[in-house]
Amino acid sequence: MNPACAPGTPSTTARALQERAHRLIPGGSHTYAKGDDQYPRCAPPLIVRGEGCHEWDADGNRFIGYALGQRCVTLGHGRREVVEAASRALRDGTNFNRPSVLEGDAAEALLELVPSGEMVKFTKDGSTANTAAVKLARAATGRRIVGLCSDHPFFSYDDWAMGITPVDAGIPPENVALTGTFRFNDLASVDALFDRHPGDVACLMLEPCRPDVDPEPGFLEGLRERCTRHGAVLVFDEMTTGFRFHMGGGQALFGVAPDVSTFGKAMGNGVAISAMVGPRSLMDLGGLTTPEPRVFLLSTTHGAESPGLAAMREVIRIYREEGVVERLAATGERLRGLVQDAIDVSGVGGAVDVRGRPQGLLFGNRDPEGNPSQAYRTLFLQELIRRGVLAPSFLVSNAHTDADLDRTAGAVSAALAVYRRALDAGSVEGFLDGPPSKSVYRRHN
Ligand SMILES: Cc1ncc(COP(=O)(O)O)c(C=O)c1O
Repeated sequence: MNPACAPGTPSTTARALQERAHRLIPGGSHTYAKGDDQYPRCAPPLIVRGEGCHEWDADGNRFIGYALGQRCVTLGHGRREVVEAASRALRDGTNFNRPSVLEGDAAEALLELVPSGEMVKFTKDGSTANTAAVKLARAATGRRIVGLCSDHPFFSYDDWAMGITPVDAGIPPENVALTGTFRFNDLASVDALFDRHPGDVACLMLEPCRPDVDPEPGFLEGLRERCTRHGAVLVFDEMTTGFRFHMGGGQALFGVAPDVSTFGKAMGNGVAISAMVGPRSLMDLGGLTTPEPRVFLLSTTHGAESPGLAAMREVIRIYREEGVVERLAATGERLRGLVQDAIDVSGVGGAVDVRGRPQGLLFGNRDPEGNPSQAYRTLFLQELIRRGVLAPSFLVSNAHTDADLDRTAGAVSAALAVYRRALDAGSVEGFLDGPPSKSVYRRHN
């Protein structure tokens, strides 16, 4: 193999494509989480194509990928039946001046999975679905304040969510003042939020669980009870819980029904589709018969474009037929065991850990003092990339085979040997080629 084109050594052609992307696209990417500042310098600058759990860079190197497509591709890239369903929809016309029959078919298919909902509006991404949930809650309650769970990393690129992060440029302070926060598994913080804004909290929004943090017994029930008592709307963001931990999301897993929930990510296996689901009493405010002032709910040209809806129906069929959630769990559990074995023999002690639900495996990286470390995380990613593994986390897909997991385990072992030497050296200097990755939530570059 030409060493200039081995994984982790992008060619001048690949670097030129990367420079072009930065010249033409702010940040060089349409999603900040994919940015150069999130990866070691040796990361493949651009991806050309994917198949199953494999991805090829511009130099033709093949990587085993994890958390495919920002966690939206759970069946693997190019899953044939989904591609065929979306292609058929493309051929039959993607969009019409009157609603398509498919819109009703898709609504039925999704609502079957989410008993808390009676109606649905489809859109294309999670941010717009969550923003619509906020708008609906405000309209239904006549209140202003959005209560966000501050332990959860991302809900939307819109003002009501980004305003409370350091990246608040362009967001008027008066908008920021309309968002309040509470902590996960901390009902006292929820009570404090309601106390701070008496009669003005429109909704609480949170993920019902994180890959590595479950709700404590009584927490979700406590939220449910408080929202009902205070007349606020309970919104579950099921972008990452739905179709990964349970088809019906955390509400099915933990048995607590929100008022409104939002789904996206894996439900189209990478074809753009997301949804807001809720009871008729709320959703009908966006309908044509409400006597209340009309809510201009999600209404976009591409909201119910056919390929996304067709892909979603096929994804649901495959999930049911193949027991995808259970398969993801079995695959993740096997990978956890392999990675844990590698950690145990590596001598890195607690500096690297693997944790979380098997379908949502995360890893943590610490420095020699035991503090979470972006520099050591970047080193770990670098050493995996050099061995053909592109893993911002270890979220598996239905396409990962035992052979992929075994190869990953080999890469992890070798990466940990380097990590161990860097721990002994007390710093990543001399080990890390390029700067450490940075948090996306920073005010300045
Ligand atoms: C929990 C959660 N909610 C909402 C979003 C926003 O979704 P999208 O990126 O599709 O706008 C994300 C995206 O990462 C997410 O993880």
